[in-house]
Amino acid sequence: MTATLTTRGRIAVITLDHPPVNGLSLATRRAVAAAIDAAEDDAGIDAIVLTGHAQVFCAGADITEFGSPKAITEPHLISLITRFENCSKPVVAAIGGTCMGGGLELALGCHYRVAGRGVKVALPEVKIGLVPGAGGTQRLPRALGVEPALNMIISGEPVAAERLAQLPGQRLLDAIVDPAEVLDTAVALATERAGLRPLPRVRDLKATHPSPDAYFRFVRNSVAAMSRNVPAPVKCVDCVEQAVKSRIDDGLTFERETYLALMVTPESRALRHAFLAERAAGKVADLPAGTPPRPVERVGVVGAGTMGTGIALNFLAAGLPVVLVEQSQAALDKGVAALRGVLEGQLKKGKLKPEALEARLALLRPTLDWAALADADLIVEAVFEDLAVKQQVFERLDGIAKVGAILASNTSTLDVDRIAAFTRRPQDVLGLHFFSPAHVMKLLEVVRGQATAPEVLLGALAVGKRIRKTCVVSGVCDGFIGNRMVEHYFRQAGFLLDEGASPQQVDRAMEKFGFAMGPFKVSDLAGNDIGWAIRQRRAVERPELRYSMLADTLCEAGRFGQKTGAGWYDHVAGSKPGRLEALPSPVVAQMIEAHRQKQGITPRRIPDDEIVGRLVGALVNEGARLLEEGIAARASDIDIVYLTGYGFPAWRGGPMCWADTQGLFNVVQAMKRYARNPHDDATFWQPAPLLRRLANDGRTFN
Ligand code: NAI
Repeated sequence: MTATLTTRGRIAVITLDHPPVNGLSLATRRAVAAAIDAAEDDAGIDAIVLTGHAQVFCAGADITEFGSPKAITEPHLISLITRFENCSKPVVAAIGGTCMGGGLELALGCHYRVAGRGVKVALPEVKIGLVPGAGGTQRLPRALGVEPALNMIISGEPVAAERLAQLPGQRLLDAIVDPAEVLDTAVALATERAGLRPLPRVRDLKATHPSPDAYFRFVRNSVAAMSRNVPAPVKCVDCVEQAVKSRIDDGLTFERETYLALMVTPESRALRHAFLAERAAGKVADLPAGTPPRPVERVGVVGAGTMGTGIALNFLAAGLPVVLVEQSQAALDKGVAALRGVLEGQLKKGKLKPEALEARLALLRPTLDWAALADADLIVEAVFEDLAVKQQVFERLDGIAKVGAILASNTSTLDVDRIAAFTRRPQDVLGLHFFSPAHVMKLLEVVRGQATAPEVLLGALAVGKRIRKTCVVSGVCDGFIGNRMVEHYFRQAGFLLDEGASPQQVDRAMEKFGFAMGPFKVSDLAGNDIGWAIRQRRAVERPELRYSMLADTLCEAGRFGQKTGAGWYDHVAGSKPGRLEALPSPVVAQMIEAHRQKQGITPRRIPDDEIVGRLVGALVNEGARLLEEGIAARASDIDIVYLTGYGFPAWRGGPMCWADTQGLFNVVQAMKRYARNPHDDATFWQPAPLLRRLANDGRTFN
């Protein structure tokens, strides 16, 4: 059963029971409809309470049913809400836990609502490119007031119930109590109001605003400016305007039509894909059922550099004690100062309370005494990217770490299996590849070595979740999922310069596509010397892999990027204090010109869609190879890596989703075209066999 019916005296209690979030699947809707029928027909019942459980009242529609016939099979959500609204007996929603989306719309169909303090209430549909589709845009403004309702709808952000209860004139919440008392209060309210008629319905209230025309014009303009790439936020404004200006039934029809039109937009498809992909990421199919994850309660971090300090901050924020070790007191002091600096910065911005700062620092134990690592359940190594140094560290850890401790390397390019082999416990070793800044970036690539034990992998995934990372499992290869693909993205960016584009044009095209920064601005930010070092290594390991030599010439001239004031751009002090401005560099333009002459290339005008096609196409082709090799388990995992680690625009759903949207047949045709370009890399552009097969079969990655 996905909903149960019980009684408390003359009150029927319908409890949603569809773990984990009481999603309104077809089965749940049927069970709820049957329960309300039974309660209404029962002469021994005077009123009805609808409730969920302590954590979740109802998180809304079952997103896995989106687009499937189940979503529109009766009773669909709209019918169910109407059923509650028209019930001849009073219905009280007892909201003891999270109430989102369709859950809030359902509650708005009830006659009374009681909520617990601290309960989160939201209409988050805009985040998946939609407007609320079951009356939310019409009923919430009537219940809450136009402005607060519209703010909730266009942001999609949760608001604490008690804040809503304080809004003057609000009719959303009839009582706000301690979460433990929600059900009892709702039953008492139902009993008290059982005989009261007419039943109060949100649909009968008016949504009013003193100057609607000016208000909606203002909001529409601001929202349009902030959300140029996605239609949903402006549509939310349109719907709420209808709530003010039309009769409710017309408003509901308008909302429904808007919802259905948005449902088939590529932006909403992509955002829904990303939502589901995020939930699928980190799930590993081939582990024995019932494998217990290795518990992690105490953490060790080796190396207090850029990454080590960021990594430590994550665990401290999650309340886990961290032992931080270094090779010298100076390096340790520097690391602790950097870590403290981040916390103090958060304090200044009001993101952290003074007591939380103290609590975090109290959990940190910086030391040069490696024996302090003996208690750690997980030790993350973040020392120099040098195999000999890693060997030293892992051999030493092998002698110190307790039996069963997880030993993780944060290496970005070295072979995790070789690192594991430096210990006598390769089954306990894996990669935990954090992204910089490690305390900010959501992505964590969990690198599964050949010998990594299932419980070690699961332990790492569990602690990854605890520190609020989005974990994606990667097999062992150079660069893992993200960096292996991105190398080809940057290679293409270089070839485009050879052939006629400028760094500004490439960056502009990618920014128009939706990235916050194009590849050349990213390189200048990260430091061009990093890519230079990788290319030097590559020249030995894979001499056949061709690059534009321009980036090397740039580095030879000392133009490492922002840190040297010059890279692909000239970085000068901007109009805002502390901000750098990136200006096109005449020196770089000359460098490019000279390079083309030397290569005998006559520059051509390159259209923006070729720039996008080649840069994103390069990600897609390498992504398909990763899938085929089993390095990535799912195309959606690759999308998540790019959405959470590389700034890929969310509303495009990631590179593999983008390829699906283009149609894989078209993607293959484009690759064949690129392969015929004499200045490009024809071998690379042979479509990956998996891509070719899917395209031939008319299928998609996701
Ligand atoms: P870093 O140079 O900032 O820090 C390395 C720290 O390790 C230094 O403080 C150094 O004193 C310490 N160290 C070196 N040898 C040691 C030893 N034997 N025992 C104890 N401490 C030792 O380097 P960063 O950037 O933090 O990188 C660390 C690791 O993280 C590398 O493997 C790197 O490839 C990886 N990584 C770096 C990213 C980045 O953006 N910087 C991103 C993802 C991974």
